[in-house]
Amino acid sequence: MKARYWLYEVKGFAPLVRELGGRKVGVFYVTTPIYYPNDKPHIGHAYTTIMADVLARWHRLKGDEVFFLTGTDEHGLKLQREAEKRGLDPKRFVDEMSEVFKRYWSLLDISYDRFIRTTDEDHVETVKKALMKIYSKGLIYRGTYRGLYCVSCEKFYSEGEYIEENGKKLCPIHRKELENLEEETYFLKLSAYEDYVKELLTKDIVYPRSYAKEVLSKISREGLRDLSITRPRNRVYWGIEAPWDPQHTVYVWIDALLNYISALSYGSDESRIAKFWPAVHHIIGKDILWFHTAIWFALLAMLDLPPPRKVIIHAFITLRGLKMGKSAGNIVSIDELVARYGGADPVRYLLMRFSSLEKDVEFSTEQLDNAFNSELADTFGNLVRRAGVLVLKKLGGSVEGGPEMVDTELSSRVRESVERVFRAMDEFRFSEALIAIFDIYREANAYLNKTEPWRLEDPRKPLYNVLECIRIATTLLYPFMPKTSMVVAKSLGFEIEGIERLSVGDWHRYNVSEAPILFKKIR
Ligand code: MSP
Repeated sequence: MKARYWLYEVKGFAPLVRELGGRKVGVFYVTTPIYYPNDKPHIGHAYTTIMADVLARWHRLKGDEVFFLTGTDEHGLKLQREAEKRGLDPKRFVDEMSEVFKRYWSLLDISYDRFIRTTDEDHVETVKKALMKIYSKGLIYRGTYRGLYCVSCEKFYSEGEYIEENGKKLCPIHRKELENLEEETYFLKLSAYEDYVKELLTKDIVYPRSYAKEVLSKISREGLRDLSITRPRNRVYWGIEAPWDPQHTVYVWIDALLNYISALSYGSDESRIAKFWPAVHHIIGKDILWFHTAIWFALLAMLDLPPPRKVIIHAFITLRGLKMGKSAGNIVSIDELVARYGGADPVRYLLMRFSSLEKDVEFSTEQLDNAFNSELADTFGNLVRRAGVLVLKKLGGSVEGGPEMVDTELSSRVRESVERVFRAMDEFRFSEALIAIFDIYREANAYLNKTEPWRLEDPRKPLYNVLECIRIATTLLYPFMPKTSMVVAKSLGFEIEGIERLSVGDWHRYNVSEAPILFKKIR
């Protein structure tokens, strides 16, 4: 199979940057994994979702046309069993639980454009259409599967992948005993795509690159094996019916991956696929890397679609050294953090401030408290409060300025930080972006202390420069802390308009109406 993906410029696919009203406007499509709604989301799920939201908001700020997709992965044995355990019909159970996810995402200000559920009719139709297309190409065949299955992962494990303890074979992630399965199944001919997938893994898709190497070495060790993609209906009834054999249901992972294209009306409205697919950015945790590379790349090729533009992978939040999760029983709840820090914005800030693509981050209340107090309350909160109070007291709330009022030294430092923010955002380094944004607040604090406007008869120049710093940093902070940024903008009398006017001297007039206290320190 030959690689045929660079092909965003290929016929039928829209270019990534278009002219709109004389302005260059990009298209950006960002997705989160769709989560298993077997329980309410915890901060591990929030971590991925906030990352995606920050990117979506960042691109909207840049003027791009954004489509942001999240949702719930509602089929499969895990959900079937969880519903049975609770004595509920699976559909009723997922109806309730998907609402719980929506409530949490609304609590955290997640600005998704669609919340997809794999029980949505249009999705079910897409899965059937897509699989029928692959089936008619002769890429699906009948066979028998023997293997060890982890229901929590919804995944088969082969020798070398599982761990053995006291003669028991355990899932390396959940440490639960694997189930022995032998059953009739249909296989997907992934093996035909081994060279294609390997080639894609050398391209600029998987980010950071180290994860691509991991996948490549797994393929070199084991090859890309054909994948069992159905379960007998009498074992797993809670799934989409295989369109060529009603005695089988579709493997939940195949069902789930296809959400990314069913949300673009694959098979029914080609124009949406043509527009957004070339701009797709999947954000995932490292636990589901294999599915989103090896399997997904091959599946897309079978459907004559180019691979994703980017798969961005992050590491885990751990607690006591283990991946935070239901199985390990080491969950920190979203409610708990929102209550502790007094709102969604600080939680969004703190999770992104310590985020990392490569390294697991150990959850630490002490670390979060320190950052909350010193960065949010002291550096940012105090600056806004001091600047607001001074402008109100000394200037009756209004300051005018423009290029002639600019402190050039300060302005060039701010420009450097702004450039750092852009570079970091381009590379999905959210923590670095926040550090660079906060360097602007730090500069402004230092400048305030140096110029001492409270002693000056005419403090307009320093106060104007400080407000400019606050405006620029707060505009850049908007994707991370949307509510707080709006409060600051409204109180100080400026607007968050986009990324065009990010130099000191760009804003003409401030009308300060309030000097808000943004955060209350934790003692
Ligand atoms: N349903 C599948 C995904 C299908 S996508 C086509 C699934 N769901 S999940 O509910 O288990 O969520 C997995 C994702 O949640 C991870 O990939 C990761 O993005 C996020 N996280 C869950 N726990 C996490 C941590 N402890 N740390 C970081 N991210 C975590 O897999």
